Amino acid sequence: MNLTGIFDTHAHYDDAAFDADRDVLLASLKDNGVSSVINCGVDLTTSRTTLDLAHRYDYIYAAVGFHPEDCADVTDADFDAMRMLYDDPKVIAVGEIGLDYYWDTVPKDVQLAVFERQLILANELDLPVIIHDREAHGDTLALLQKHRPKGVLHCFSGSVEMMEEAVKLGLYIGLGGAVTFKNAKKPLAVAAAVPADRLLLETDCPYMAPVPFRGKRNDSSLIAYVAQVIAQLRNADAQALVDRCRENANRIFGL
Ligand code: NI
Repeated sequence: MNLTGIFDTHAHYDDAAFDADRDVLLASLKDNGVSSVINCGVDLTTSRTTLDLAHRYDYIYAAVGFHPEDCADVTDADFDAMRMLYDDPKVIAVGEIGLDYYWDTVPKDVQLAVFERQLILANELDLPVIIHDREAHGDTLALLQKHRPKGVLHCFSGSVEMMEEAVKLGLYIGLGGAVTFKNAKKPLAVAAAVPADRLLLETDCPYMAPVPFRGKRNDSSLIAYVAQVIAQLRNADAQALVDRCRENANRIFGL
């Protein structure tokens, strides 16, 4: 399986899981079929480390923002500091932002306020958003309908009906390792039905490694396994799918 031109639209290479061999791995990705990566910050610290990675590697771009699980104590000063990062040309999205009602570590009203504030900011900056929605489909969709940002629902876990709503709003659908899992009914149904011009491929690495690496550390080259599964499902060629998804990513992220 020698796929090339893989665009990983969601990675966390600043995660401690890569501390032992980060530079070796990042230097090898281009030889393993990966052409572009978007690294996502989840708070002020990781947004800065994300930007640092983007400065050191030409093929890495940065999304910066406050993740719903990391926004409990965000202050106005934090927002101001984050706002300054968006002036950097390597920052191409507001993310990852959203709602997480699964872990429930941050009160819903706080999550909703921080999410909405960042949706407004993204529209103001004319940047796409990278959205994390875990067990918060209704509230996520309501805010997206209200603010109509451009962007992607990453690691999409909703139904085909929700996917169709998101596509109607102009949004893109990010799929990754979950489509290869044995219990993956919904992601597979979405992968089969999503319009070809709205699909993005992603890892969420170090998490969500596809079968046969499930539970191990993930990296962007393993998207080849995800592309294989989705292509088969859609009766498409895996390389053509990777190419189409890269074109989609370049379009939505303005690259
Ligand atoms: Ni993520």
